[in-house]
Amino acid sequence: MLRDYQPADFDEVLEINQSNVPEVGPLDEEKLALFVRISPCLKVIEIDGDVVGMLIGLTESDTDYRSLNFGWFRERLDRFAYIDRIALAVAARGQGWGPALYEDLESWARSIDRPAMCAEVNTLPPNPRSMRFHLLNGFEEIGRFQPYGPEAEVAMLRKPLHPTP
Ligand SMILES: CC(C)(COP(=O)(O)OP(=O)(O)OC[C@H]1O[C@@H](n2cnc3c(N)ncnc32)[C@H](O)[C@@H]1OP(=O)(O)O)[C@@H](O)C(=O)NCCC(=O)NCCS
Repeated sequence: MLRDYQPADFDEVLEINQSNVPEVGPLDEEKLALFVRISPCLKVIEIDGDVVGMLIGLTESDTDYRSLNFGWFRERLDRFAYIDRIALAVAARGQGWGPALYEDLESWARSIDRPAMCAEVNTLPPNPRSMRFHLLNGFEEIGRFQPYGPEAEVAMLRKPLHPTP
């Protein structure tokens, strides 16, 4: 099931994150505590009592989070929902949980009147599975960024949220 993060999930969320580096950035206790404090959309996937997936969502107004990638979007877009990270345990992939997390995030983004969702995906080193996942879920590339020099590059993605009829 998809549900809101609870304090008891802390260690499992850290573990899922760390087993998905470098596809997602590293996370330590201090940084996760920051997200727990500021993220207005922190979700997990629980299967048989285990946390097997997580998504951390923010908006442009969550300025306590200082990240170069998040800053790239904040410099260019006025209002948006931002996926700082999404990660599923290997066994939980390809079962619809990724799309479910993004549908949930999209409902939330619409409910707070954000006209777009944004995320970045590594292109160096490449993450073709995540790139395909994002393109299949309606994201389009609006730029490339090398936040830490030429060894690492990310594609900056945006999904416009048109008003539902
Ligand atoms: C990205 C992620 C959340 C997507 O979740 P998911 O629901 O499992 O989606 P899938 O992994 O099935 O991927 C979606 C598509 O990519 C395809 N795919 C799988 N492996 C692939 C690969 N190695 N290269 C390219 N495409 C691939 C799938 O077949 C699927 O396409 P299809 O529907 O046409 O068959 C999940 O794979 C994940 O947690 N990955 C590790 C962490 C990560 O990369 N997070 C994102 C950082 S930007």
